[in-house]
Amino acid sequence: MQSNYYSKNLNSQKLYDVYQTRYPRVKTYLAEEIAFVKARLQGIEDILELGAGYGRIMKELAPHCKSITGIDISEDNVAFGGDYLQDTPNSKLIVMDAHKISPKVFEAPFDVVLCMQNALSSMKVEPFSYTEKIMSLLAANGRVFISTYSAKFWQHRLEWFLEQAEKGLLGEIDLEKSKDGVIVGKDGFCSVTHSRSELDEIGKSTGCPYEIQEVDESSVFLVITKK
Ligand SMILES: C[S@@+](CC[C@H](N)C(=O)[O-])C[C@H]1O[C@@H](n2cnc3c(N)ncnc32)[C@H](O)[C@@H]1O
Repeated sequence: MQSNYYSKNLNSQKLYDVYQTRYPRVKTYLAEEIAFVKARLQGIEDILELGAGYGRIMKELAPHCKSITGIDISEDNVAFGGDYLQDTPNSKLIVMDAHKISPKVFEAPFDVVLCMQNALSSMKVEPFSYTEKIMSLLAANGRVFISTYSAKFWQHRLEWFLEQAEKGLLGEIDLEKSKDGVIVGKDGFCSVTHSRSELDEIGKSTGCPYEIQEVDESSVFLVITKK
């Protein structure tokens, strides 16, 4: 499997084009995923987004928080984000490998850390130890929002990925191997999901209060509060 598929093959303009989908149902999924977080902000939070791309989610949430920092491994995404976020003064997008996060690399703890749009899969992290790392970046009572796809959204997700392949953004999708929440490309691309029970195990492993919530029958959120 290719590592960092997104940073090598699917960044900047191409990543932007991924989100210009022809499918209204996918647009609703993307909007509702952001709306779920927006509704849970008070406007005073310092937020960190992991695997932030060119800042698509950051731009939507910036008016609803104190500050939002995004990290992404792709220099091209961050350069593209410079333009995309130019009218978003409380945002900062930086090149950083999400595998290297630790409290030492940031000036202060965050009130909210976001790991959305199935980012645990895109960033190829081991979810249990990585969630533990995320928790170390949070202030007391801070929250992490981890989202993955709902199983109910499978057909729409598959259609969206086929659209991306058709537009030349992704390589050909292997339809025989793509099943059970995993999308497989013939070029080594692989996008997995996390089941509700796995999210439950991840939440439990932190020893902190957590909730799991399905949104719009398209995404599933694990929200953990640091105590
Ligand atoms: C599916 S995109 C999502 C982008 C953004 N969260 C959004 O929803 O618009 C996944 C992103 O994760 C980034 N990524 C992959 N591996 C990473 C890593 N190790 N560290 C930081 N970012 C990473 C990719 O460059 C890509 O921008």
